[in-house]
Amino acid sequence: MLSSLSLIAFLIWIASCQQIPIYSGQKTPLGVPWQGDAIAVSKAIYDTDILPFTDHSHEDPPWLGLSLDYKHVHPILEQLNSSDAPLLSRQEAHITVITPPEYTVLSQAEVTMDQINAIALENDIQSCPFELICIGRVHDKGDDVYDLIVIPGESLLHIREDVFRLYVSQGGNPSYFDPQMFRPHVTVGFTKTDLFDGVYKGINTCHRPIKLI
Ligand SMILES: *[C@@H]1O[C@H](CO)[C@@H](O)[C@H](O)[C@H]1NC(C)=O
Repeated sequence: MLSSLSLIAFLIWIASCQQIPIYSGQKTPLGVPWQGDAIAVSKAIYDTDILPFTDHSHEDPPWLGLSLDYKHVHPILEQLNSSDAPLLSRQEAHITVITPPEYTVLSQAEVTMDQINAIALENDIQSCPFELICIGRVHDKGDDVYDLIVIPGESLLHIREDVFRLYVSQGGNPSYFDPQMFRPHVTVGFTKTDLFDGVYKGINTCHRPIKLI
């Protein structure tokens, strides 16, 4: 009995030490058919810890993000691009961790970007692990938006939870900001413009699988 329990514990330990494999099911994680072949993604896309933290406090409105190296995202865009539906790109890549509308709510309790950036740096935001699940596509209003859909590790959620505690400690209304309402993604490109209103960029949008190279 004891030995089978320790074997299970050992197998869990082995699994947790290995790099999480990319999702590779025959269907999307929600069990609907893929709409195309796998898109190649360089493993180096995960090496975000070698990039500096980027401060977005002087943008209007400000936001918090984890920077990715665009040079690993551009080849993804090239695989999705076509002359039938040419894609536009912002030529940069990031995972938004606190969105501009969320910052607007947080600022009502005098939460500042200096405080949010300090929490991000204490939690070493550029080293926070995440997993890429699929290429997501939002098709709405005659526009197509392609994203890498991300499952966050615990530490990215911790940043949002630390921000939540700060917001509440400064008198913020807890019902206006939910740290767990988080659908991280990396915008790859779009035919017209990025879309936010009324769409959820989670595994619900999984369109094509990815393969790490
Ligand atoms: C996508 O392809 C079109 C040509 O088919 C090209 O003009 C455009 O620059 C490409 N988009 C990007 C972001 O490279």
